[in-house]
Amino acid sequence: MPTFTLQALLALSSAASAWPHFGPPGPPLHSGPPSPPPPPSSKPSSWNLKKFTSLVAFGDSYTDDSRLSYFGSHNGSAPPVGWISPANYHSADGGRPWPQYVAQYAGANIYNYAVSGAVCSNNITPRTFSAINADFPDVDGYEVPAYLADSKYSYPNGTNALNVPVDSTVYSIFIGTNDLGNYAFIDDSQVAGKVIPDYIDCVYEQFSRLYASGARYFVLQNVSPLQLSPQYGLPSKGGLNATQYWPEKPANTTEVWGRMLETVTTVNDVYKYRTPFEILINRKYPGAHFALMDMFGLITDMYNNPSEYLNGTNPTVTGYVNHCTTAGTNCVAASNPDSYLWYDPLHPSEQAERGFARAFIDVVGGNSKWATYYSA
Ligand SMILES: *[C@@H]1O[C@H](CO)[C@@H](O)[C@H](O)[C@H]1NC(C)=O
Ligand SMILES: *[C@@H]1O[C@H](CO)[C@@H](O)[C@H](O)[C@H]1NC(C)=O
Ligand SMILES: *[C@@H]1O[C@H](CO)[C@@H](O)[C@H](O)[C@H]1NC(C)=O
Ligand SMILES: *[C@@H]1O[C@H](CO)[C@@H](O)[C@H](O)[C@H]1NC(C)=O
Ligand SMILES: *[C@@H]1O[C@H](CO)[C@@H](O)[C@H](O)[C@H]1NC(C)=O
Repeated sequence: MPTFTLQALLALSSAASAWPHFGPPGPPLHSGPPSPPPPPSSKPSSWNLKKFTSLVAFGDSYTDDSRLSYFGSHNGSAPPVGWISPANYHSADGGRPWPQYVAQYAGANIYNYAVSGAVCSNNITPRTFSAINADFPDVDGYEVPAYLADSKYSYPNGTNALNVPVDSTVYSIFIGTNDLGNYAFIDDSQVAGKVIPDYIDCVYEQFSRLYASGARYFVLQNVSPLQLSPQYGLPSKGGLNATQYWPEKPANTTEVWGRMLETVTTVNDVYKYRTPFEILINRKYPGAHFALMDMFGLITDMYNNPSEYLNGTNPTVTGYVNHCTTAGTNCVAASNPDSYLWYDPLHPSEQAERGFARAFIDVVGGNSKWATYYSA
C-alpha cells in the first residue's frame, strides 16, 4: 500500500543527494548498504476517501455491462442522455461484470460507461464493430463525453441523473486490452504514425477532462497480463492458434506471446513512473487523489495461485469456459465456470471479476497491496 506525497519524494531525493557529502544519519558507511527509507505504509494514507457512494467506470469489455449491447440493438445509436446501464447477466465474463459486484459488495451507485471493444481513442487505433458498421465507441470520443452529458442532466421530475458527490465518487479507467491487442498495436493496425505513447497520453487526457469537470478521486487500472490469456498465450500454456476474436492470428504464436508480454510490461512500467510524474512533479491535478491499481499483478496472482481465487471444483488458469468456433458459432460452455480464470480466449471469468471487485473495494478503502496511492 505505498503512499507518496511530493514532500516525501523531495525529502527522499534531498536525503539521497546529501548522502555522499554529509554521511548517513544512521549506521556508518562501512557497515553495508544504506538502510531503505521507512516503509511508506508508516505514513497516513493520502487517499483519504471517507465514504464511497459512487463509481463512474470507463473501459472496454473487461468492464462493460450493457452499453455495447445497447448500440448493437439500436442500430448503432448511443443510449439517450441519463441512461443508466442495467445489470447484464451475460456480459463478456459470462455473467455480471466487476462493477456490478462492486455495487453488490459495497452498496455503491454504479455509472458504467465502458463499451466492449473500446479503445482509448479511435484516432489512434480505430476498430470496426461490424454489427453497426462503425468503430466501437471509444473512451475519448464517446465514454467520457457521455458521462459529462449525464453529469449535467436532470430527469423531467427534477432528479439528477447521476449521484456523484465530489468527495465520495471514484472514477476508474481500465483501458488497453484492445488498444494493445489485435486490429490495433500488436498487428500494426494503428493509424499510420501513431505510437503506444499516444495511447498512454490519451489515458491521462481523460483524467484531465474528468478533473476539469470536478472529479477528485481516480483509479487507474493498469493493463492486464494479456500474455497469459489463451488468445495471446504461449502454446505450451494453452495459447491458441486462432480465436473468434482473432481468426487470422499469425502462425507464430510464440512470437505473438512475446510481443504481448513486452508490450504490456512496458506500458505498465510507463504508468508506474508517469503517474507520480503527472501528479507530483507536473502538478496536473491539484487536490486530487489517485490510486494506480495493479491489475497485471492481481491477475498474475490469480494465475499463479488459482485456488485462492477460483472456487470451482478444479481451478484452471490455462483453459476457459466458453468454446466457440473461430466464427464465434456453436459455443459450448463448460460446467463449473467458477473453476476458470478465463471465460473465453480473451476475457476473464465471472469469478475472476468477483475478485477484481473485491480488490477494487480494498483499493478504494485506501489500504490495498494492489495499489499505489498519490495525492497532490
Ligand atoms: C441504421 O443506420 C444506418 C446508418 O446510420 C441507416 O442507413 C439505416 O437507415 C438505419 N436503419 C434503421 C432501421 O433505422
Ligand atoms: C425521476 O425520474 C427518474 C427517471 O425516470 C426516476 O428514476 C426517479 O426515480 C424519479 N425520481 C423521483 C423522485 O420520482
Ligand atoms: C496450432 O498450430 C500448430 C502448427 O500448425 C499445430 O501443430 C498445433 O497442433 C495447433 N494447435 C492447436 C491447439 O490447434
Ligand atoms: C517463432 O518465433 C520465435 C520467437 O520470436 C522464434 O524463436 C521461432 O524461431 C519462430 N518460429 C518459427 C517457426 O519461425
Ligand atoms: C464462488 O464464490 C462466489 C462468491 O465470491 C459465489 O457467488 C459462487 O457461487 C461460488 N461458486 C461456487 C461454485 O461455489
